[in-house]
Amino acid sequence: MKITVVGTGYVGLVTGTCLAETGNEVICVDIDENKVKQMQSGEVPIYEPHLDVLFERNIKAGRLTFTTDLHKGLDHGEIIFLALPTPEDEDGSADLRYVLGVAKDIGEYITDYKVIVDKSTVPVGTADRVRETIAEYTSTEFDVVSNPEFLREGFAVDDFLKPERIVIGSSSERAIELMKRLYKPFVRSGNPIIVMDEKSAELTKYASNSFLAAKITFMNEIANYCEKVGADVDHVRRGMGTDSRIGKRFLFPGIGYGGSCFPKDVKALHKSGKDANFEFKILSSVIDINNDQKTVLMPKIESYFKGNLSGKKIALWGLAFKPETDDIREAPSLYMVDKLIAAGANVTAFDPEAMPNVKRKLKDKIDFANGMYETLDGADALLICTEWSIFRTPDFNKIKEKLNNPVIFDGRNLYDVEEMQDQNISYYSIGRKT
Ligand code: UGA
Repeated sequence: MKITVVGTGYVGLVTGTCLAETGNEVICVDIDENKVKQMQSGEVPIYEPHLDVLFERNIKAGRLTFTTDLHKGLDHGEIIFLALPTPEDEDGSADLRYVLGVAKDIGEYITDYKVIVDKSTVPVGTADRVRETIAEYTSTEFDVVSNPEFLREGFAVDDFLKPERIVIGSSSERAIELMKRLYKPFVRSGNPIIVMDEKSAELTKYASNSFLAAKITFMNEIANYCEKVGADVDHVRRGMGTDSRIGKRFLFPGIGYGGSCFPKDVKALHKSGKDANFEFKILSSVIDINNDQKTVLMPKIESYFKGNLSGKKIALWGLAFKPETDDIREAPSLYMVDKLIAAGANVTAFDPEAMPNVKRKLKDKIDFANGMYETLDGADALLICTEWSIFRTPDFNKIKEKLNNPVIFDGRNLYDVEEMQDQNISYYSIGRKT
């Protein structure tokens, strides 16, 4: 099939590449000329495991091409995916400027039937607005489909190629049949294609992300309470997770959820509720608790240093909002850095992928090291903000040798409390005994 993807962020690029992988002819459109040049020369502009292999293969096969020319893209695709940014507006709602801008261009240009697919996370009612915008400028037949994406950064390719479900929101049989044909190769294992109306599809995406954010937040509260009463959240988590109604996943407490999706989507759903005269009480709490959680280790650090962090050197492992990505949007590490610097401490950080992004954002506010152990030279404490695999089994003797004080503040509960006791390392984590 002939496919066009407008917008080559995480979602657009993965969508375009994976759709080319099943034999479709895909053109990706982006207004960023440099990025398009970069992609045309075979370079993947983001770090996402396995994407490079598929990218190269499909470019070589001539199934995946890139352009800045929207009209060329619109001429090509029978199905046009909109994978455009929907940034957070000042009031927390999703800004639809880019989506509706391209909808207008589509209306002005198309002359034959197209299926326009909303792939970006967009508020309930957006498919209607996209339809109305296009219809204002054309009498050509077209359909609008809501097809939210559920991929996770770091696992995006796998999630796209083997989705647990595909959600298609549409009221047009013609569009539904085309979408089913497109996705058939991805659901051979029997996972469902769930067809519904556009609004329900749009809400499915927000409800899924908000539910997961609430699940993590619930565990963060349980963890904080464990500390008050002397329980261990690891035991509680295992005890709860074996109930199949609860499930083992997304029960890991830590220093809060971050990234480009959960924080933005929870706020956007909360705001859409308000706009509809509906109060999402649970989401207000999720937002507040997660804000506090990002710096929940701060009182422990302050108390360890008896309230005086001035001139203390903190080694920081992990800057990305989660492992296997270079994404630092809403990363808890950045909130910790702000607090530490405000308290007079110096920070030297290491992250396997995210350092260039942090350097651009924080300039010389913190120092960077070439390796995880190099951060420790002359440091007074080690702080862990992201659970990259290489941090999971470190050489504790080396840590003790290099640190001025053998103390670890762990925002991701990487180590066993007992092992830390055996190692004579003071160890502070989330929801467990110190
Ligand atoms: C999330 C969803 O998981 C995807 O299904 C969705 O498609 C995506 O948002 C999106 O809307 O585009 P992502 O933001 O890539 O994916 O990352 P997750 O792996 O879900 O992690 C989100 C945050 O929750 C991270 O900060 C992570 O550290 C935190 N988390 C996750 C916890 O604190 N505890 C857990 O048990 C799990």
